[in-house]
Amino acid sequence: MRKLFAAFLCIIMLFLGGCTKEEQSVSGTPEDNLIVVGFSQVGAESEWRVANTESMKSALSEENGYMLIFDNARQEQENQIRAIRMFIQQGVDYIVFSPNVETGWNSILLEAKEADIPVIVIDRYIEQQDRDLFTAFIGADFYKEGEIAANWLADFLKKRGRSEEPIRIVHIQGTIGSSAQIGRTAALEEAVRRHPNWEIVAQECGDFTRAKSYEVMSSILKQTKDIDVVYCENDGEALGAIDAMEEAGLQCDPYSGVIVISFDATRLGLEYTLARKIALNVECNPLQGPYVDETIKKLERGEPIERIRYIDETYFDFTSITREIIDSRKY
Ligand code: AHR
Repeated sequence: MRKLFAAFLCIIMLFLGGCTKEEQSVSGTPEDNLIVVGFSQVGAESEWRVANTESMKSALSEENGYMLIFDNARQEQENQIRAIRMFIQQGVDYIVFSPNVETGWNSILLEAKEADIPVIVIDRYIEQQDRDLFTAFIGADFYKEGEIAANWLADFLKKRGRSEEPIRIVHIQGTIGSSAQIGRTAALEEAVRRHPNWEIVAQECGDFTRAKSYEVMSSILKQTKDIDVVYCENDGEALGAIDAMEEAGLQCDPYSGVIVISFDATRLGLEYTLARKIALNVECNPLQGPYVDETIKKLERGEPIERIRYIDETYFDFTSITREIIDSRKY
């Protein structure tokens, strides 16, 4: 009955709210045997995010036993809180969300807890005052990703006989306050502290988008072109920074120009890695839908779950990437 009510209410609210199809959607019909999941997605800022949304939609499909209420928060935490509150009012069975930023979730998660609705946090982590505010986390260890990048850089510079040389780094950050930015930034800053010859000469926010990164990189290049490394916190930012550098006459090449480091390892990012424009691409796996499905099904059967689950990730550099790897890539 609760599910029928949820389904009915969400359809009414979609119509009353005047939301566009891209912002909200409902898949599945209001049948009592479907598991109703409300999913609040950060937005559609990157190829990674689009792949993440598709993975969730295909894993939580009607054929797989779900009715999915999808909400796109368009990068606003306020929109995510509103969507989660709506899911609570609708009486969904599970709430899944990918938090835009790390802080500010305690009150709304308390509301979900009081309504007895399990919450699964995906992709990015949250700061929590109370450990019981969510049931499970499935996502990436962003600090570890950053450490992989920093260690690779140290190793590469050593092999090139450049370990003692001054290394001037431009750092393009992701959405400030997101755990993806916090982890990747912390790992780089920590590595800079360990290497007295490394220096961050500019640090700007590229918001995980190609357009913003192009804009900030273009303005950095007006101040200096003396750059050894550009550390971008996702593929979109790397592409935007490369566009700006090439336009300014700089070459992106680990042997004869700027060393570009990126995260995500999307198909397009890997094309740039094969072309040696991106020297290193650290994978961040967006295909999290099947893990969420598995967790929910276990909870439904009353089985124990892994509360914090970091998804396995690898990395590709310009020496290890191949055409076969790119062609077999799912995102
Ligand atoms: O939270 C994951 C990050 O968010 C990805 O690196 C980025 O592409 C996305 O927008």
